[in-house]
Amino acid sequence: MNIHIFKNEEDFIQTAASQVTSLLNANPYAKLGLATGSTPVGLYKRLIEMHRQGLVSFAQATTYNLDEYVGLPENHAESYRTFMNEKLFNHIDINIDHTHIPNGNAADPEEECRAYDKMLEENGPVDLQLLGIGHNGHIAFNEPGDSLTSGTHITTLQAKTREANARFFPSIDDVPTHAITMGVGSIMKARQIMLLIRGEDKAEIAKRALTGPISTDCPASLLQCHPNVIVLLDQGAGRLFK
Ligand code: PGA
Repeated sequence: MNIHIFKNEEDFIQTAASQVTSLLNANPYAKLGLATGSTPVGLYKRLIEMHRQGLVSFAQATTYNLDEYVGLPENHAESYRTFMNEKLFNHIDINIDHTHIPNGNAADPEEECRAYDKMLEENGPVDLQLLGIGHNGHIAFNEPGDSLTSGTHITTLQAKTREANARFFPSIDDVPTHAITMGVGSIMKARQIMLLIRGEDKAEIAKRALTGPISTDCPASLLQCHPNVIVLLDQGAGRLFK
């Protein structure tokens, strides 16, 4: 793993953005794996700025998001479709038909999972997969446990995850209990993975995921097995690294 710790926010964001823009400038047809959550928001802002400055185009790119809540209407303020449209897609020149997010309202959720994997299989691999990490070590909504699922699947969100995401909802009772998520196997098929970790509160899980044992108890630790991972940490998240 290629681990970088940044003293200042500006360098952190610009390094992340440059990874994306260099890829798109070398290959305008690149396939990007995108993530939601608070971590990539600064990166998306920077990509919008760079697009406005004429430094990058997304016109030919295709995107695949990691996950979506089950049961939230697509236009709900906290659906991941709304997040992606508002934080990125509405402000760049991407063809919205080329942006893919699992459908959390599919009539047949199991079929939706199979269809998402089939699409990834036929169109993939993803060139660059962005990831954040949960306090419990989850990547996408692959929660820690005795086993992990390889393909896209429906998952029950752990209490810790629902508590963390309650900040976006009126109350914890409004946080969905289930999500559709790409599985760890699907994520690991990406040619390159860029894991972003920010904040003091992520320092312990960052250390465990990047240097601890590889275990399903910490899904992000499996990234240690991927041949091409870049990890960007801000100073807070990197404080336990010498
Ligand atoms: P965050 O979420 O970026 O909002 O901290 C990351 C995650 O849970 O994967």
